[in-house]
Parts: sequence; C-alpha cells; structure tokens
Amino acid sequence: MGIVPSFKNQVVYQIYPRSFYDGNEDGTGDLRGIIEKLDYIASLGVTAIWISPCFKSPFKDGGYDISNYYEVDPLFGNNADLDDLIKEAKKRNLRIILDLVVNHTSDQHPWFQEALKSRDNPYHDYYIWTKKPNDLRSVFGGPAYEYVPELDEYYLHLFAKEQPDLNWANPKLRAEIHKMMNYWLDRGVYGFREDVIENIGKVPEKMITTNGPMLHPYLHEIYEQVFKGRDAFTVGECWDADNVSRTLYTDPQREELNMVFQFAWFKKYEATPHGKFDRLSPDLHEIRDIIFAQQETEPEKSWNANFLSNHDLPRPTAFFARPGVDPEDIAKFTLSLNLFLSGTPFIYQGEEIAMGHPHFDSLEELRDVEELNHYKLFLEEGIPEDKAFQMVSINGRDNSRTPMQWSDAKNGGFSAETPWIKVGDYHTINIEKQEKDPESTLNFLKKAIKLRQSVAILPIVRDGSFKALREYGNDYLAFERKLGDKRLVYLANIGDKPLTNPLLGKKVLLQNKGEQETLPPFGMILVED
Ligand code: GLC
Repeated sequence: MGIVPSFKNQVVYQIYPRSFYDGNEDGTGDLRGIIEKLDYIASLGVTAIWISPCFKSPFKDGGYDISNYYEVDPLFGNNADLDDLIKEAKKRNLRIILDLVVNHTSDQHPWFQEALKSRDNPYHDYYIWTKKPNDLRSVFGGPAYEYVPELDEYYLHLFAKEQPDLNWANPKLRAEIHKMMNYWLDRGVYGFREDVIENIGKVPEKMITTNGPMLHPYLHEIYEQVFKGRDAFTVGECWDADNVSRTLYTDPQREELNMVFQFAWFKKYEATPHGKFDRLSPDLHEIRDIIFAQQETEPEKSWNANFLSNHDLPRPTAFFARPGVDPEDIAKFTLSLNLFLSGTPFIYQGEEIAMGHPHFDSLEELRDVEELNHYKLFLEEGIPEDKAFQMVSINGRDNSRTPMQWSDAKNGGFSAETPWIKVGDYHTINIEKQEKDPESTLNFLKKAIKLRQSVAILPIVRDGSFKALREYGNDYLAFERKLGDKRLVYLANIGDKPLTNPLLGKKVLLQNKGEQETLPPFGMILVED
C-alpha cells in the first residue's frame, strides 16, 4: 500500500468559537479561550480542530459574513492569537482547519463597499448583479435579490441580504481567493472546511444554485493554485451532493476535495411546507439506509465525512430523543457510529457530553438570522405568534449554538459575564461532572477514539471494507469492517424494544450499556471477530 494521505487519519472536533470558552470575560468565546482549553481538546484524542469562522464580521450570520479574510475579529482576539493557537495546537499534535466562506462576503467587505460605488468600479464585477431579478429565494427566507437604487440594479444573495454572493466567473476574484487560501496555509493551518462550496458555480439566471457547470472546474483550479503539493485537508459543505455527484468532488483522480458533508439523512426531514421548521420525527431505519448507501457507493472514488451534528443542525440528543431513553445513550450511539464507519469522523462541541437544547422562552432570547427571518415570514403567512415562535425556537440553529457547559459554576463555567446567548442546563450536564464519572459520554468517547486510533484497529477502520449486515433484522443497525483476516462488527438497536444481542460471546471492544444479553434501544456493541 502507498502512503496514506493524512486526511484519512484524522478525527475532527468542530468549535463554534463564540460559544466555546470565554478567555477575556466579555460573554463571548474567543481564541484565547480555545488556547486555554487545548489540553481538554487533546484529552479527547481528536487530531484536528475545525473552527467556525473567526474573521472580521458584523455577525449578521454568526461570522459566516466575513468583512476581512485576513484579520481575526476583535471579538475573538487578533492574528497573533490565531498564530498562537496554531502553534500551541501543534505542540499537542492538533491541526487547525479554518472555515472558508467564499460563496459570499459580508456587505461590509471593502470589495462590496467599492462595488456599490459605481458600475464601472473594478470591484463591481466581484459580485453578481442584474436588472431583471427572477424568483430565486434566499435560504434564510424572502427574495434572493436586493435592489440598490443608486445603481438601479439588484445584487444576488443566496443567504442574508447582508451576504452578497461573490462572482466566481471573474478570474480576478478567483485569484484573490486563491491568494488568501495560500496565505493561511503558509501561516500553518492544515486546511479548510469549505462553506456551501457547491454554490460557487451558480447560474442564477437559469435558477441553478448548486452543481452549476463551472463548479468542478473552479474546484480543480483551487486544487491547482492552492493545494497541489501540499499535505492539506479539505471538506466541502454540499447540501445537494448525492451518491452520484459526490464522487465528482472526491474522486482523487479529479483533484478537487478530500471529502464532502452529505446531508441526505437530514434533508429528508426538511421536505415539508416549512422545511425544517415543521420537522417530522426522524426514522432511524431510513437514516441507517441512507448512511449505508453512502458507505457502499464507489468507495475507491469517495471518502466519507461522517457527522450527525454541527452548528446548523439540531443536537442529536434532541433530534433522536425518545421517551424513556437516556440522552447519553443516544450520544454514545451517534458518536461511536461515526467513529467506526468508513471515513473521517467529525464531533461537534458539546456532543461529547450529550448536550441538549436549552429551551428558549421568548423571542428576545433568539439570535439566529434564519430563525428571526422565518418567524416574520410565518406571521405574514397567518401563523399565530406562539406557534411561529415554537417552530423557530424548537427547530432553529440557536439550539446547537449555546455555550459549552464546562462546570456547575455560574453560566456553566463558560464566562463570568452574561453570555451572548442563553446557556443550557449545565447543572445536569457539564464537563467537570462527566470527567469524574467513568460511565459518562465523555469517558466513553475518549475510550472509543483511543480504540479507533490504536495501532491494531486504525488500519481496519481506515482502510478496511464496509459491508452492511442486514441479516439480523430491521431493528438492528449492523455493519462489518474488514481488512485481510481482521473483522470488526458494529451493531446497535435502533428499534423501540430491547433486542437479543446476537454477538454475545464475541470479543467486545466497545459497548455503551455494559455486558448484556439484550441490547436496549440505542444500545451498541463493537466486537472483533
Ligand atoms: C453554511 C454555514 C451556515 C451559514 C451558511 C451561510 O451552511 O454552515 O452556518 O449560515 O453556510 O454562510
């Protein structure tokens, strides 16, 4: 076997910096806070940290609206702090992955400010303008075009109106982005999570937003201009990628991305009139089948990014909640599943302690532009206020963006100051408590990562084949990982009733409910065969 590319060896931990740890007591998490907690992060056994955007931003969309790609936002510190973070992380064998938000900028970015000055301004063509807007809708609600009276033109924004879309057809813009990416890689970062990257080849006049004809040429060009010859990490956020289109990104021969986040398992629950805001309960059987199909499709041309949680999604403990089931069992199941599937596992901050949703009481507690925009739209539609509030507060993104619950101290030990967003139930769930409890989700995760990354097991998990095992019955989620004569079997109960454990007597490597003849719902077991 040839040299294993480094991206295949990682276990990635995602940080939402606003809510991770407050290092300067202003109620907002920051880079100093992350540095202070690097020993904690390293103690999990993860190998890389993806940080959601930390660059200059007016925070109309939580920092996904960047106004300067070269400067850390003062809320998070400064560039020296980022250098320190890279350096301190490296000392602990942790690599830093930045969030690359290049489908759009903030409307406060100097490029856009210039673009607004006149149609002849050289930066005008960095953005997408039209005289004739069509019916394209913004992901955050409302039309995707905004009128600028001074120019008598509309600009495109697939997200908030403060997030104008960049014009990737302009080679000057593309060169600017390549330059910026090289700058950060040269400064020591390991790679990028590429925000809504599937949108960069859009053809808005034809209503094409994802998978436009130039998407893949642009991605290959990035590879040529930025990644070629480097050992770097790339994961694209691709909501529309399916098992056919994903290999266009990931086939190593094509030289585009290492892997993409596929959302089919979640999007299934958005296919209602109000999308995720009237979400149905997820069916784990369907989700299993979707994930297994991903695993089984053209493994030689694809590498999976395994995740069930991030800053845009509900917490798995809430999404998969069932009466009578301990959220910690759900968390142990989702975490272990992602660790032993084929691909690179991603863990989102708080997932390691089974954090749940905070329960918002009033509109004033909500922060997310997507929730607030949709709330207004729902009222316009005639939905009563209390129902509209429930729809956005129960299903919105703020739920997974609340501060990390470090301890039982004030504000969960996140900050001495009032946090920028409500804190969840830190008395019941916090890191300090879980560190002391050998049965906690936190200690389970540490054990699971250590096992996965061990010399004996890593080759099987990384290089071994994946095979779905359907013979046990529909309520089992079971699969085999095999390399040479070594075989691992992962099995979990995704039904509502206890099931017999067909692997009793085998060599148990990991289990979330202790040695048992039956597996309760969400009970999982990993054996060596
Ligand atoms: C991605 C981000 C999300 C953001 C959006 C627009 O989906 O994960 O948080 O709102 O892109 O940048």
